[in-house]
Amino acid sequence: MMKLKNIFILAAVSLMSAMAVAQNVAIIPQPYHIDQQKGTVVLGAKPTVEVDDASLMPAAQYLSDAFEAQTGTKLKVVSKGGDIRLCLAKDGEEGAYSLKVERGGVTMSGSGYTGMINAIATLRQLLPVVKGEKVALPKINVSDRPRYGWRGLMVDCSRHFYTVDELKKLIDVMAYYKLNRFHWHLTDDQGWRVEVKRYPLLTVKGAWRHFNNQDSLCMANAAKEDMPNLLLPESKIRTAADGTQEYGGFYTQDDVRDIVAYAAKRGIDVVPEIDMPGHSLAAIESYDGLSCFDQTGWGRLFTTPMCPGKDKMLEFCRNVWTEMFALFPFEYVHIGGDEVDMKNWKKCADCQKRMADNGLTTEPQLQTWFNHYMEAFFRENGKKMIAWDDVIDGGLSPYTTVMWWRSWLPKGPKKATSHGNDLIDVPVSFFYLSTREDDTKLPGIYNFNPYETLNDNEAKLVKGIHSCLWGERVASVERMWYQLFPRLTAVAEKAWSMPERMNYDDFTKRLLMQLPRLEAMGVKYRLPDLTGLNRGNVFVSTDTVKVFCIDPSVTIRYTKDGTMPQQTSPVYTGPMAVTETTHFVFRAFGRDGRKGDAFRSDFVKDQLHEAVTTEQQFQTGLSNLWYDYPGDWCKGIEEAPLKGEYVTDGVCIPKEAKENIGLVITGYLEVPEDGVYTFRLYSDDGSQLTVDGVMVVDNDGMHDARELVGQHAMKKGLHPIRVLYFDHNGGDLRLKVEDKHGKEVKVRYWH
Ligand code: ACM
Ligand code: ZN
Repeated sequence: MMKLKNIFILAAVSLMSAMAVAQNVAIIPQPYHIDQQKGTVVLGAKPTVEVDDASLMPAAQYLSDAFEAQTGTKLKVVSKGGDIRLCLAKDGEEGAYSLKVERGGVTMSGSGYTGMINAIATLRQLLPVVKGEKVALPKINVSDRPRYGWRGLMVDCSRHFYTVDELKKLIDVMAYYKLNRFHWHLTDDQGWRVEVKRYPLLTVKGAWRHFNNQDSLCMANAAKEDMPNLLLPESKIRTAADGTQEYGGFYTQDDVRDIVAYAAKRGIDVVPEIDMPGHSLAAIESYDGLSCFDQTGWGRLFTTPMCPGKDKMLEFCRNVWTEMFALFPFEYVHIGGDEVDMKNWKKCADCQKRMADNGLTTEPQLQTWFNHYMEAFFRENGKKMIAWDDVIDGGLSPYTTVMWWRSWLPKGPKKATSHGNDLIDVPVSFFYLSTREDDTKLPGIYNFNPYETLNDNEAKLVKGIHSCLWGERVASVERMWYQLFPRLTAVAEKAWSMPERMNYDDFTKRLLMQLPRLEAMGVKYRLPDLTGLNRGNVFVSTDTVKVFCIDPSVTIRYTKDGTMPQQTSPVYTGPMAVTETTHFVFRAFGRDGRKGDAFRSDFVKDQLHEAVTTEQQFQTGLSNLWYDYPGDWCKGIEEAPLKGEYVTDGVCIPKEAKENIGLVITGYLEVPEDGVYTFRLYSDDGSQLTVDGVMVVDNDGMHDARELVGQHAMKKGLHPIRVLYFDHNGGDLRLKVEDKHGKEVKVRYWH
């Protein structure tokens, strides 16, 4: 036991000034056990921290830095008699910890270094939100342990580039939420971001590019959405020798060492990803001889891959990784392996020879051969290989850890684990935080359960949960925060907290209390969605507009002429009556003036549409035609070749339809009574719904899973309905019908 001697601690509420009221306890992720007593403990003006084992010294320094950043008070590391005592528990579950705040100070005990890091995360969330207040802590007893050992976040630094300081701040916030794996996507088609001494052109050339279509989309969206965080920062643009502008940047090997050390101090392991053999255009265009043919570039979706038939390419891969091994001490490395366009491999004599020499009959098997070749090399170097679940397709080695991202292939987890492979879950449907957020995403993350089909042994192979931030549409660090928060808090809770401790309503309450903490850390999180608004509303005589935001710190402003609300626009103060067609735009503004997403909401005055009168006999279900459609908009689907004709119970993708999908779904919808009905059309990618020939929901264009809501006024009976839909890479389509009060209506469909 350490000796507790502390002259700086004044205990008990009775001695506190009014300023020193402890914050409400609202920890994310939810700990396993919390016992809060009445009262607080106030640390003195010169608080101190001590460790009982030298291995915890970096943790004490990290705590000291975080403490000062959060409270404005220095926390001195002392050899004994500290107000805060960090103790190493030599046994216990990795990452578990206990924390006790009592008269006499704070005692934290961590199982291993990472246990202490997790204890510090909890302590950081007990500190006052506002800098400069006395440090009053609630009297509390926490004992906690992680559900999963792997709690990760991937950041794609290829599509857009984030500086070392930007990443350090992110890593610090990851530690605050007990995330412990930083997966660094360092290379891709659009930019090679890590210095490789043996191949200098990878960064001299491969780290810079002229603006691409994603850059122009970001800039166009910044203007369209009046959202400055979509703009490309000037600091990442340079003027090339020929006077043109180039975008880019890269990490030197010293930068990498700096990040790895910074993360290690915070208990975070760094997993480098060098994506191969696909997603490699930046390398292929920097060095000759890595691809099958000289001609390289983009196909319809993916780029020319590297050529696994060429020994030079294998040598390149080994040499690059050899330099990475020296930079990244963590045992896991990520080889990517996703989305390989194998067309060239079919035509390439070297690839075909490699296949013949190794008795391979298909190109996916050639990728598997390459994976196994690289994996053997990793194993010789003491490394374990992770790959995206695409590598299941050609056959898995027993050693690969699979990252399952293709949530439209729900058998992925079962396939990997029944084969005995470790699994990390990163399903695109909710855990890709680069997708647009809306009010379905947070509960989606929280309630997602992909393990129902796994037996106990298979479930044990699930190592953890991970999230991805792909960078195509994340050009600035401000946008990065906007995409990640608050969603990453739900991922963190999903990965850490035991299911019996998880409750969505309770989580959202704690989240609200975390928002000022994020704000204080400079994390410009996305302001919560405005709720109560449909994209389209229909009324027959009058209607009422009611808007709500769970974050009481925001001000809601609106316009009635379709323009973007600004700081000077009228403030929404409560329900408003509408009697004529009005086109509202609502928007939340934060205290610092930052803007939330704008919500357009049309209120259209209309009549009840007549039902069709016909003697015709209908069959149940809807006619569902599948066209082989590769386009990016609903218009044009019917001009594509017809592939299949089906009847489906409702609006959905026929199970036979795969890859290029264009659907035309027609028939009649039968509604049980006169009234205004609400239509929730959810799709990935685009869709459109017309009823009685009127466009009710226009959810068109290439986009992630998104629900748009419209209304239509109808008389009891049958109304013609038509849905158009397209997708090319694993999509989703659903339609829900509700009455005016939001109650689901079981409409009947006929054709
Ligand atoms: C991926 O999203 N292509 C792994
Ligand atoms: Zn080849």
